[in-house]
Amino acid sequence: MNLIFATQNSHKLSEIQHLLGNSFQLTSLKDLGFTDDIPENQTTLEGNALEKARFIFSKFNQSCFADDTGLEVEALNGDPGVYSARYSGLLSDFGSEKMRSLANIQKLLVALENQPNKNARFRTVIAFITNTGNEFLFEGIVNGQIVKELKGDEGFGYDPVFVPDGYNQTFAEMSLSEKNKISHRARAFNCFHDFLSLNNTF
Ligand code: IMP
Repeated sequence: MNLIFATQNSHKLSEIQHLLGNSFQLTSLKDLGFTDDIPENQTTLEGNALEKARFIFSKFNQSCFADDTGLEVEALNGDPGVYSARYSGLLSDFGSEKMRSLANIQKLLVALENQPNKNARFRTVIAFITNTGNEFLFEGIVNGQIVKELKGDEGFGYDPVFVPDGYNQTFAEMSLSEKNKISHRARAFNCFHDFLSLNNTF
C-alpha cells in the first residue's frame, strides 16, 4: 500500500517507515517534488494533523496522513500542548534544534518550579485521509512526570526531563528502540498500522 506522509522532515519519514513496516510504502513530499511549507495554524493537535493531511490531499488526491505531537502538562492546563515546538517563543529558523529544545525545557522548569504536581503526557495524533476522502484520527499517549534536572543525551525535544510512568529513566536516557516500545508516537502508529492492516483497500 502506498501512502503519502505529509511531512518535510526526512528523519521523521524514516522513523515512521520503520514503525509501519515494509507492507506500507511511504511517499515523501520530496519524492513528489513538493517543497512548500505545510500550513499548521490550528489550536489543537487534531486540528493541525487534519489541516496538514487535508492540504496535501487537496494537492495530490491520494491516501495521505499527517501527525502532530505535544507535551501536555497537567498543572499548566495542558500547555505547552500544540505549541510544544515553539513554547519558549524562539522561531523554528532561529538557532539549532537543540538550542530551541533547551530554551523550551528551561521555560517549562520555571513554570513548574513551585508546583508539586509534575504529571505530564506526550500525545500524538495522526490524521489519515483515504483516497476517497474519508477521514480517520488515531491517538497515542504516554503518561509520566517532569523531573527538575535534565538527564540523558538521547532523543530530542523534552526527552531529558520526561520520565514515563513505570520507569526511573528519562526518555533521553533510553535507546531509541527502548523508547519506541512505549512512546506516544509508537502507540499512535501501532493503532494506525493495525487499522491499515485490517482495511487494506485504500
Ligand atoms: P512534532 O509534531 O512531532 O513535530 O512535535 C512537536 C514538538 O513536540 C517537538 O518539536 C518537540 O518539542 C515535542 N516532541 C514531540 N515528540 C517528542 C518526543 O518524542 N520527545 C520529546 N519531545 C517531543
